Amino acid sequence: MEEIFYVNGQYVRKSEAKISVKDLVVLRGFGVFDFMVTHGQYPITLTENIKRFRKSANQIELPLLHSDQEIIEIINETLRKNKQLFSASQEFSIRLIYTGGLSKDNVSYSGDNSFICMVEKFSKDCSVCETGVKIITVDYGRLFPQAKTTMYVPAVLTKMRVHEKGAYEGIYLDQNQFVLEGASSSVFAFFNGVLTTPPLDSILAGVTRSVLLKLAERCQIPIEIRAIHIEELLKAEEVFITSAGKRIIPVVRVNDSVVGSGSVGWQVKALLFMLEEVVLSEIAKGRLMEDVLTNDNLLDEYLKYTKSILSKL
Ligand SMILES: Cc1ncc(COP(=O)(O)O)c(C=O)c1O
Repeated sequence: MEEIFYVNGQYVRKSEAKISVKDLVVLRGFGVFDFMVTHGQYPITLTENIKRFRKSANQIELPLLHSDQEIIEIINETLRKNKQLFSASQEFSIRLIYTGGLSKDNVSYSGDNSFICMVEKFSKDCSVCETGVKIITVDYGRLFPQAKTTMYVPAVLTKMRVHEKGAYEGIYLDQNQFVLEGASSSVFAFFNGVLTTPPLDSILAGVTRSVLLKLAERCQIPIEIRAIHIEELLKAEEVFITSAGKRIIPVVRVNDSVVGSGSVGWQVKALLFMLEEVVLSEIAKGRLMEDVLTNDNLLDEYLKYTKSILSKL
């Protein structure tokens, strides 16, 4: 069964979705996108993703003409059409794309943008959560790093390096070898029990990053937002990456260095448990992410879980 996409006011089958080759997104990579997934068939971070989508467009001076309400209606309707095609347990990814539009001279902006909402079947791969993954550092970086633009050449090149090295994700460093972010993920590390992640100055504001920081705060885990040098990352107790599609993926190797004990540590395990088992099960019952993240029970659940895993170590 083929998924249904929304393209400029039309709902069409995936294989029939089209835009012009004269669009600046094709000619110059000028456009923005955003990506989220459903849980219980509900787009769990909808408001945050729309906010970031608009921010990305502002950053590259691309006038996003749709209101938030219009975007929500398009997402809901595209989702509704896809839900009718698949089982009630099927989850979806939602990719919004706003293109630079048709250009008369192939480079100047002249409006006539395309709005695309791609809803596709999604299932999360949990196998790597048990074993952890290897990440590598790569010599690429992004232009307009705070925006989710369609200029993702570095991500495609990173994927090639990742495949060559048998890794899972590649991470970008700044010119002074400080960790920025993954090609499509945010990076976290634990140092002496302090959950540490780079500041937002030169990276994308990951929506999962923000969920995780709120969750950690609720669980009274100490947090530090600061620059992390690559040499320091290699000595972290635990490392993990986050994104909408991956959620939390533990990292057990960075380049040729083993992280901590070389297996998934208890601090990441506890966050995984909290997100996957506690937060998402509440959301599956129809509760909103922002409400779940202010729940006082989170700390109790966290303490109970950490006590049980620490007693087995
Ligand atoms: C460069 C970059 N950083 C971070 C992320 C993680 O963001 P989110 O948690 O919103 O998926 C992504 C997601 O694709 C990304 O492309």
